[in-house]
Amino acid sequence: MGRIQRLPSDLANQIAAGEVVERPASVVKELVENALDAEAGRVKVELDRGGVELVRVSDDGLGMDPDDALLSLERHATSKIRGKDDLFSLSTFGFRGEALPSIASVARVRLVTRPRGASEGTEVLIDGGCPAQVRPAGAAEGTSVEVRDLFFNVPARRKFLKSTGTEAAHVTEAVLVAALARPDVSFFLTRDGRSVRQWLRMATRRDRAAQVFEGERLEACVGERGPMRVEAHLGAPERARAGAVALHLLVNGRPVRERQLARAVAQAYGSVLEAGRYPIGVVYVDLPAAQVDVNVHPQKAEVRFADARPLFDAVTRELHAALARAFSLPALGASPRAWSVPRAAPAVDPAPARFVAEAMAGAPGDPWQLDPDSDPATQKSLAERTSVGAPAREPPGGPALFEGTGFYASLEFLAQVKAMYLVCAGPDGLYVLDQHAAAERVTFHRLRRAFASRTVTTQRLLIAEVVELLPTDVATLEERAADVAALGIELRAVGPNAVAVHAVPMLLARARPERIVRDLVAELGRAARRPFGDAADLVLATMACHGSVRAGDVLSREEATMLLRALDDVDFAGHCPHGRPVVTRIGYEELDRRVGR
Ligand SMILES: Nc1ncnc2c1ncn2[C@@H]1O[C@H](COP(=O)(O)OP(=O)(O)OP(=O)(O)O)[C@@H](O)[C@H]1O
Ligand SMILES: [Mg+2]
Repeated sequence: MGRIQRLPSDLANQIAAGEVVERPASVVKELVENALDAEAGRVKVELDRGGVELVRVSDDGLGMDPDDALLSLERHATSKIRGKDDLFSLSTFGFRGEALPSIASVARVRLVTRPRGASEGTEVLIDGGCPAQVRPAGAAEGTSVEVRDLFFNVPARRKFLKSTGTEAAHVTEAVLVAALARPDVSFFLTRDGRSVRQWLRMATRRDRAAQVFEGERLEACVGERGPMRVEAHLGAPERARAGAVALHLLVNGRPVRERQLARAVAQAYGSVLEAGRYPIGVVYVDLPAAQVDVNVHPQKAEVRFADARPLFDAVTRELHAALARAFSLPALGASPRAWSVPRAAPAVDPAPARFVAEAMAGAPGDPWQLDPDSDPATQKSLAERTSVGAPAREPPGGPALFEGTGFYASLEFLAQVKAMYLVCAGPDGLYVLDQHAAAERVTFHRLRRAFASRTVTTQRLLIAEVVELLPTDVATLEERAADVAALGIELRAVGPNAVAVHAVPMLLARARPERIVRDLVAELGRAARRPFGDAADLVLATMACHGSVRAGDVLSREEATMLLRALDDVDFAGHCPHGRPVVTRIGYEELDRRVGR
């Protein structure tokens, strides 16, 4: 007898489930997609205990007759494709015939279904892949699939599930994405018997986007290049987040996580978005089915494009035109530098920094993978952003800047220009400081010192500020409660998608509490699964950025002088914590030369 044997089908299904079914949200995604493929107009999702105990998805779609109901739970049984050519002209989410048998192999499943117009329904019970029981049953038209005790027979998997709050939040996300994909369908989400979300059918993608991103100002951008059409509803650059967690991409109506496409979208904002930050919103790219291969990823989260480069470029260009108008962005590729200092190292522009970081990183990282370890591009910027005392490049003006102490205090403050620059006279030339970069550097330094010694002074808010967040974000904040408190931020969850902020660090009193919390959430998201100590610098740097004097703030002579003095205390003052130069020098010889002396 040979050594090779065929695997029993329940084991084969469990192996397949390993790729398709990761958590309750993956079950929801598959079942909701099945409902949509069955032409449902209404889809209801119910969860108990984050979906670990129960997920039920009900639809008013086509339903199945008894034979189909039984077959639907068998591997490689599908009504959606017949032959190879169909793979390249898909109009359905599903095509593999794997989802239901995979789910049934790792949970207890009850499927109840009745075809439209039929007099009777069917019930199928299947337990961890064990033989199904079928019987006639009373049922509404459509299909309802109940999945209980997920991973009851795969303890190793069950152990990886997070808190019910986190799992429920992922489910909400899965339904939200489906809602973006299909504006013409109504979605209802119930958690432990309570209705938590409801997206009634809408006429257009634009209306659905507004409904899903309630309260956000989204800009509609529509463009076409050849056979490609792009429609996007995107937020303002200041609402951008670290990572692409709130940027949804749909290619031919299918939600995907394509990092290059996400970057193409971010690049449409030009230099105003820093490396690793992505706008919030939704982008629909539609192109001929033959130009996209959707059969490359077990969860169909990635696709492959026949002609990727030109496509991404076209997306960037098309979106840029509309975004630039809406948000007064600088032209793409232009570097808005009024004058340059020949001897100084080139100043760093955030946008080129992103391209450089990506180019150096080689393989681009996954902006949805919220672990900076796995994202080389993020890692690079992380290194830049935390390079205290270890400047990556020669500071402008040369090392002389940092010799001796009290250098900044010794500068003679002359004037503030454009509410942005502080112009000072020094012994060897004119010094121009970027007031925001300088203030940010000081705030960062002070915050960091206070955090290290656990002495962050807080300021209580007279009235707690309520900040609406994604449920995943609220769950993260709850999980990191101790770290958050150590940062000097006091907050409490008020419901599944909001927190109330009670206190903020005194040093950040100028920042809006909402901004502080959003920064915190974004950076914590990036730092997921890493020890908090590693993330703290990033959190502090981002908070310092928004809690400091900004471009546009008018400074008095006194404030400017205080800022100069404070800079002397900072370990390394040549760059702001985000890596932008704080100061630029024009030597007097250079001036002499320019005026032709
Ligand atoms: N809610 C539903 N209403 C009607 N038919 C359904 C429903 N869910 C599943 N089916 C039928 O069961 C079949 C198997 O579903 P399953 O999800 O396992 O595979 P699929 O959707 O064809 O492919 P994939 O594995 O890519 O999702 C489907 O092809 C469809 O005919
Ligand atoms: Mg399916």
